[in-house]
Amino acid sequence: MFESKSGFFGKYAEEVSLNPNVGSWSWLLHRITGVILVIYLFMHLFALSSSTAGADKFNTWISSLQTPLTHILEIGLAAVVAFHLLNGLRITVADFFFMTKPHKTLFWVAMIIFLIFMIITAVVFLGRAFSH
Ligand code: HEM
Repeated sequence: MFESKSGFFGKYAEEVSLNPNVGSWSWLLHRITGVILVIYLFMHLFALSSSTAGADKFNTWISSLQTPLTHILEIGLAAVVAFHLLNGLRITVADFFFMTKPHKTLFWVAMIIFLIFMIITAVVFLGRAFSH
């Protein structure tokens, strides 16, 4: 007999385990990346607001962030943005152009573009990370 899972993460696990296919996983990843983007947006605004302390202080602080670790974290941020953007476009195309039937194919097309983008991003940012 099916037992309904409880708790915040239990509900998500249930949602995916009931229908473990591309549609469910992409929905979950879209939500996770969306929430990360909202958190990042606030961190970004907080970081930029420090410019009110003056150009010199801001430039010194921004320069201190140019470390190998931050360049590696930037690869993660690029992955989050790229996934959300490409999957968001896939959802929009499927919804507006009556393409819900081939939504799985659209997902893999989006993932091929994602992979190409990530390879280029990794080459550029790892180059920066190890040039310090
Ligand atoms: C880069 C361009 C973006 C595109 C093309 C895009 C596209 C979308 C689409 C189509 C949805 C609806 C998903 C659905 O109906 O299932 C969505 C949801 C969402 N987006 Fe974006 N988005 C973008 C940028 C952003 C940014 C910058 C943020 C945060 C600051 C964000 C946060 C969210 C959140 C929190 C959701 C709700 C997810 C959910 O309820 O599962 N998005 N996005």
